[in-house]
Amino acid sequence: MMSKHRIVVAGCGGMANRWVAYALGRSDTEIVGLVDIRLEAAKAMAEQYGLQCGVYTDLAEAVQKSGAALVFDVTIPASHHEVGTTAMSLGCDVFSEKPLAETLEQCKHVVRVSEETGRMHAVMQNRRYIPELTALAGLVQSGTIGKVGYAGADFFIGAHFGGFRDAMDNPLLLDMAIHTFDQARKILQADPVSVYCHEFNPPGSWYAGNASAICIFEMSDGSVFCYRGSWCAEGVQTSWEAEWRVNGEKGTAVWDGRKAPYAEVVAPGSQEGKFIRDFVTVGTEPQAPAFTQHEGCLEEMFAALNEGRRAETDCRDNLLSMAMVFGAIMSAEAGRKIQISELL
Ligand SMILES: NC(=O)c1ccc[n+]([C@@H]2O[C@H](COP(=O)([O-])OP(=O)(O)OC[C@H]3O[C@@H](n4cnc5c(N)ncnc54)[C@H](O)[C@@H]3O)[C@@H](O)[C@H]2O)c1
Repeated sequence: MMSKHRIVVAGCGGMANRWVAYALGRSDTEIVGLVDIRLEAAKAMAEQYGLQCGVYTDLAEAVQKSGAALVFDVTIPASHHEVGTTAMSLGCDVFSEKPLAETLEQCKHVVRVSEETGRMHAVMQNRRYIPELTALAGLVQSGTIGKVGYAGADFFIGAHFGGFRDAMDNPLLLDMAIHTFDQARKILQADPVSVYCHEFNPPGSWYAGNASAICIFEMSDGSVFCYRGSWCAEGVQTSWEAEWRVNGEKGTAVWDGRKAPYAEVVAPGSQEGKFIRDFVTVGTEPQAPAFTQHEGCLEEMFAALNEGRRAETDCRDNLLSMAMVFGAIMSAEAGRKIQISELL
């Protein structure tokens, strides 16, 4: 029988609850340590879940004393680089909350440390694990709408978080658009080639940094992906999954971020002489697996760890989604189109 995964959880804030609850639901895991720079947060989490493990403020001490082999990094973005690289240097595999790290150099360094130590480092991209998104990706990849020329995602939500996001320089691009950019890569099965971005902070924004951005990406399949987003948009909100429109040579696939995606494609038969052609609707029936979102991504991470393969959201893959974020930020700052090859 395989021995249990001995886990230290670093960062015992709001999101850690989801990770801890999931781990407690698996039979092959054991939480052996809780770490938070605020010891009271680690203690509160131990109490809440009836965990008998040690509580610490220092990750290295927690790993060494507990003999952990896996670290859940659920700290704030600014701590991901330090927590992830420290954990791998101590011989642990790492499952980390997004974003991979807060700067491009830090992201690349996490990848280097993963390669040097041979430890796995995978990132929580929970919004890949949504049945409707998988159905949209399937619709596009099956060729139903033909070769894709354009994909667009609109994201407009007025989110009053308080906390670290309100103080970030690029809260939308770094903390949220990473999900949508990563989803675009999954839908198109393509990687970014270039980006032009205009980032701004609209009137009434309660964020210190820029809460809105418009980005145009050229993708490796020849398509153009356009992202329009705001985290301070009051009223008529989109889904957190964004609203999607993908145009192909034969038709268009749409997803409102909520219901099943569908496509309209040019109807078979002669359309000769018609100004607007006839279309037929192609529906989808999203299949919900046992685990979706966070739990779906954690299932994949554990499966990859157990099978000794790269997870779908391995840091090396995730670096390409992060390159979309940092390329967009760089473009906005420089006021010019950025080639993604300049970053990698
Ligand atoms: N995937 C998603 O949908 C999703 C949703 C919300 C948050 N998140 C991510 O989860 C992470 C945590 O977010 P949250 O909302 O739980 O934040 P939070 O502020 O509630 O919790 C973070 C905790 O980490 C602790 N911490 C900070 N630096 C640390 C360090 N170096 N070592 C140990 N502990 C440290 C803080 O004291 C705090 O208790 C962030 O990266 C955030 O982007 C992801």
